[in-house]
Amino acid sequence: MKKIIIDGGQSLDGVIEVSGMKNSALPIIFACLLIKEECVLDNMPRVSDVHNSLEILRQMGAEADFIDAHTIKINTKNAQNIYFDMDLISKMRASAYLMSSCLSRYGSVHMVYPGGCNFGARPIEQHIKGFKCLGASCTEDGEFIALSLSKRLQNVKITLDKISVGATINMIIASCVGEGTVTIENVAKEPHVLDLIAFLNICGANIRLFGNSIRVVGVRSLNGKRYRIYSDMIEALTYATCVGSAKGKIYLKNVDYEHILPIIPHFEKTGISIKYKNGFVCIKSPEKLVSTSVFTAPYPEFPTDLHPQFSAMLCFCDGVGEITETIFPERFAYLCELEKMGAKFKKIGNKVEIYTSLLHGASLDATDLRAGAALIVSALGANGRSEINNVNYIVRGYEDIVPKLSSVGAKIFYDNK
Ligand code: EPZ
Repeated sequence: MKKIIIDGGQSLDGVIEVSGMKNSALPIIFACLLIKEECVLDNMPRVSDVHNSLEILRQMGAEADFIDAHTIKINTKNAQNIYFDMDLISKMRASAYLMSSCLSRYGSVHMVYPGGCNFGARPIEQHIKGFKCLGASCTEDGEFIALSLSKRLQNVKITLDKISVGATINMIIASCVGEGTVTIENVAKEPHVLDLIAFLNICGANIRLFGNSIRVVGVRSLNGKRYRIYSDMIEALTYATCVGSAKGKIYLKNVDYEHILPIIPHFEKTGISIKYKNGFVCIKSPEKLVSTSVFTAPYPEFPTDLHPQFSAMLCFCDGVGEITETIFPERFAYLCELEKMGAKFKKIGNKVEIYTSLLHGASLDATDLRAGAALIVSALGANGRSEINNVNYIVRGYEDIVPKLSSVGAKIFYDNK
């Protein structure tokens, strides 16, 4: 099985082009089931979750594939509501978006529960609550979920009990084609949610964000359009943590700077500078980093998807750093791997204190997408050689992370033995 090998201690210097945002690409791909015309999507990342999502659409009879490096063409005109590859669906959280898109287009869906990174329970009761508000009936048997909706209720208000990216996205997709207005309250406002709204509005939808609510005025149909998705803010910020652990200075291309702006102060508190200049984002690390404390919360607060990577970087900071995880309290599996490298920390409930640690190379196992990225961050700054197994987790969400880091001086390569 392929491994990533890293010889730590090389500082970084050069330019990295950031890819399109995985968590935008996935809902937009499934939302194309609402549009029976050709859509062309630019800035699409070549990551396994995108390839798998396209495969699910193809299994339904749609045309869905890359037509050049980062452009995808999708036409779901001939897509049928058939049984999907349940194994594929159970691997990805994004397959949850099949529920809304099939409910809207076909009036029914029958599938296994969506999968997703294994850091604790991934419930979908908020999604079900929303679908029922729209008039859908739902039966679950622990393995399969079946939803049906003959005619979407009009002028409905859905109040989500907790801020959920997936449930917000599913309610938007389920509401935009039909009669009447749907108001969704207590919504997630991550850039990837706004990306989906922008795409659907360009295709003819009528979706507006008002404070913490989204108003969807149903339309009869949507038209196929060309659209460029946002760049991946978590990928960009992951590279910022790499500069923190390995030191040096890199320039990032293709970054939507306004999306990372709210998170930059957390890095600046450690001494890292992140500045936008002439279309590039320059990330520079001081020789000595200072620890800081963060807690994760819905955007624009510190993103949970940056927690493991930032935690790995804190090992290289002077002082006691602290991360409080308020969204996925089980998201700490990466700590066992950092411990193999000599990391010093104390976990107290959903909080971890990270102490200055002298890390050494080790054989490590990625346990999920962002935990895998955290191992790369720690290995880049460690003394000696590390090998990272279960690379399949990392390639789900990071396009070409090995060549991108190698191009800025990291001693990182694949071992295909
Ligand atoms: C999306 O997952 C992302 N995945 C996750 O990114 C990200 O960590 C998460 O949003 C939070 O930003 C994709 O976009 C494919 P949620 P999602 O619904 O939609 C609870 C990555 O690394 N909840 O916002 O599943 C839930 O347990 C991945 O790219 C319920 O209790 O997250 C969590 O505590 C990992 N009931 C909180 O809400 C529900 O019905 C937020 O989850 C739904 C959610």
